[in-house]
Amino acid sequence: MSRQGFKRALVTGGAGFIGSHIAEKLLSIGMETVVIDDLSMGKAEYVPEGAGFYRGSILDGDVLKEALRGADVVFHNAARVSIRDSFEGVCQDAETNVMGTVRLLHACARAGVKKVVYASSMAVYGNDGNGVLKENGSPLAPLSPYGIGKLAGEQYGMQISEYYGFDFATLRYFNTFGTRQTFTPYVGVITIFITALLQGRRPVIFGSGAQTRDFIHVEDVAEANVRMMSSPVKRAVINVGAGQGTKVVDIARLLIERINKGIAPAYAEAPMGEPEDSVADVTAMREVLGFTPKTTLVDRVDSLIEWNRARLAENA
Ligand SMILES: NC(=O)c1ccc[n+]([C@@H]2O[C@H](COP(=O)([O-])OP(=O)(O)OC[C@H]3O[C@@H](n4cnc5c(N)ncnc54)[C@H](O)[C@@H]3O)[C@@H](O)[C@H]2O)c1
Repeated sequence: MSRQGFKRALVTGGAGFIGSHIAEKLLSIGMETVVIDDLSMGKAEYVPEGAGFYRGSILDGDVLKEALRGADVVFHNAARVSIRDSFEGVCQDAETNVMGTVRLLHACARAGVKKVVYASSMAVYGNDGNGVLKENGSPLAPLSPYGIGKLAGEQYGMQISEYYGFDFATLRYFNTFGTRQTFTPYVGVITIFITALLQGRRPVIFGSGAQTRDFIHVEDVAEANVRMMSSPVKRAVINVGAGQGTKVVDIARLLIERINKGIAPAYAEAPMGEPEDSVADVTAMREVLGFTPKTTLVDRVDSLIEWNRARLAENA
């Protein structure tokens, strides 16, 4: 894949789930790659071999300056990622996701970065009638402080990059699954269900389970990031999903079938901040990035279960 003349990339949040896969992909195409991560969620061992690592916060100007030295492209993935926690921890959410993004953008301008690819989220959308979310057309009406912060990051990015003269692309990730997702009780339904089933607990479905989500494999998200870097397109907002809706109850059924047939799901009240349905319109992804994700959960379910089994054994 063309590197568009870029040589050195900084991946913020590169010790985390998605960021570590982006860093790995960048290294595989010969990019010099450095990571900044405060390890609040990520793990140092997830930073791929060959990448430089700065342990520190995107809120710390000195570490940012060091990490940005010589970087011409930045993939901004560091964030607090829990919708639930963004209600209780609204200040911390805004500090990291809004102020952290603003500080990073400002530092990028001073460091002479040429392009920033920003990890936004389907959480910037509200509830739309038929659940198929379009970059231009679906209402931007976030249901949580997390969604508000992600949308603010997009808008700061557009303005600051225009003012200082660098390229800025927003990728709105949908529900990403794969290895290295940090387990927390409320982020990443597939990792949560697998963890519960491996521990002999009932997976808890919030709401009826009929709500649809668009599940995309983490390597496809990493691919979208690298393609965005390689694209001559300077400014863009692009959904990054598979373009297919899957009911949460069907995910639970599939995983129960594979892991523990004797267990039935439990149900709990749907929390605030979650949309009813959320499926990506992937027209822009196809047209601008030139690809449609192909990897499904069925393709990767066995290896993902085994990865999580090993993770649990290590932490036992
Ligand atoms: N996982 C998903 O399904 C999904 C969906 C939509 C958007 N996103 C976005 O993708 C990005 C990556 O999310 P993820 O799922 O890999 O989560 P993650 O928690 O695994 O990764 C985020 C990383 O950022 C780091 N971090 C947090 N605060 C930091 C700070 N102040 N300074 C430096 N590092 C900090 C964490 O330690 C972690 O390693 C986030 O911006 C998230 O909002 C994720």
